[in-house]
Amino acid sequence: MDVHNVEMVMSAVSAAQYPTDGKPEIALVGRSNVGKSSLTNTLIQRKNFARTSSQPGKTQTLNFYDVEDKLYFVDVPGYGYAKVSKAQREAFGVMIEEYITSRKQLRGVISLVDARHEPSEDDISMYEWLHYYNIPILVVATKSDKISRGKFNKAESVIKKSLGFSNEDSDFQFFSSETKYGKEEVWRWIENHL
Ligand code: GTP
Ligand code: MG
Repeated sequence: MDVHNVEMVMSAVSAAQYPTDGKPEIALVGRSNVGKSSLTNTLIQRKNFARTSSQPGKTQTLNFYDVEDKLYFVDVPGYGYAKVSKAQREAFGVMIEEYITSRKQLRGVISLVDARHEPSEDDISMYEWLHYYNIPILVVATKSDKISRGKFNKAESVIKKSLGFSNEDSDFQFFSSETKYGKEEVWRWIENHL
């Protein structure tokens, strides 16, 4: 999709604040610092529209981005960030769970993992949980500019194996916000799920 108009319409912490116009939504989940906001920026062709940071924990609310008046991207706070207090972590958990389990407009979730590493326990729990709720999942292995193409096959099988990846409701794509690798494929997946 060629994106010209994007608007951040809401920073929500609870269901009462979600947009009410019924457009389909695609959510982005993943560990803090994995590159969710960067992926959002790449897809919408902006440099720093969704605030990115080398400091984890930047995104702390559900941020709804209206894309071309056609859909919302929902940038979700990252999990697994140790410096966030326990109470805050639990509040994030509740907020994310409430959104994922109750949102009728949610068409699919892009679950980001780091292409260089084996998925963390949190990545695995998130994947299993989305799977349990029958939500279509695109696993995006990002920061793929940091590994050579020759390592893609091996990295893909390591990630799929530890997630217990299911071909039935999940897809997989390497991605890089640096080189834009995988951008078209991610857009195609999104458009196929609207
Ligand atoms: P939180 O909002 O804290 O959950 O983080 P986030 O998942 O939104 O991560 P963000 O997009 O802010 O990126 C974190 C850091 O990783 C930044 O320094 C980015 O520049 C870097 N980064 C993100 N994507 C890529 C990528 O594809 N390649 C490389 N090399 N760096 C990336
Ligand atoms: Mg972010």
